[in-house]
Amino acid sequence: MNPMLNIATRAARQAGRVLMRYYERTEQLTIHDKGRHDFVTEVDRAAELTIVKELRSKFPQHAILAEESGRQGDSEFVWIIDPLDGTTNYLHGFPQFAVSIGLECRGKLELGVVYDPLSEELFTAARGQGAHLNDRRIRVAKRPSLDGALIGTGFPFREHRHTDRYLGMLKTVMQEAAGIRRAGSAALDLAYVAAGRLDGFWEIGLAPWDLAAGAVLITEAGGLVSDLTGGRDYLDSGNLVAANPRLHQVLVDRLRPSLEGKPAG
Ligand code: IPD
Ligand code: CA
Ligand code: CA
Repeated sequence: MNPMLNIATRAARQAGRVLMRYYERTEQLTIHDKGRHDFVTEVDRAAELTIVKELRSKFPQHAILAEESGRQGDSEFVWIIDPLDGTTNYLHGFPQFAVSIGLECRGKLELGVVYDPLSEELFTAARGQGAHLNDRRIRVAKRPSLDGALIGTGFPFREHRHTDRYLGMLKTVMQEAAGIRRAGSAALDLAYVAAGRLDGFWEIGLAPWDLAAGAVLITEAGGLVSDLTGGRDYLDSGNLVAANPRLHQVLVDRLRPSLEGKPAG
């Protein structure tokens, strides 16, 4: 395995152990509100510290962008970390959450690790080296249209200014797809697209740590990731659509009218 990926994997597994230690007794955790419906606990912070320590010990020169502690250091290498993606699920004992670690270098996403500590599924990818689930190579699904497709999404529950545009998108996709899932961890949703479990995915208003690792997984699994206009600005805009190349174009075309504020048909 790529040595940097190896270290990122080790950090993700260590953080996963922290998450599992508290999972059966989440009622004892102190929950702080970061914003409306935006929670953080000592578990998020402890898991993040574990990852940061591991990466810092091996790559002291690299910068870090982590959800709970923000940006540290200045380097062309930036580790982008979500120690617990799916905090609301975690706090409810809803078994869908993950650790997400991505690496960006000079504006390019180089590698990604998404680890589900409950199922012990480890999704990994390095640019040019393919995507894997545990030791098995994974590919995106081949379905070329929304007909029969299972599509993942996330609701913009924090930013209500997105609600109307989002509901237009949901209506359009719902009328054509076989099913839509909102499981509550964008990082895992993206890993599932890479593994072909979901045919496609879209969400608006994500943060870089929600999507950096998942975007590498999908690209390396043969899929396309873009912002909602089909452009490359997904990491900064937080608006993302992903699928195999044909379905990706279909999704971009279907989502565009709502993005532009036109009513869904
Ligand atoms: C959230 C999850 C969720 C997505 C939100 C994210 P968090 O991350 O990925 O699926 O819809 O936009 O903020 O807060 O649980 O790390
Ligand atoms: Ca997140
Ligand atoms: Ca988080």
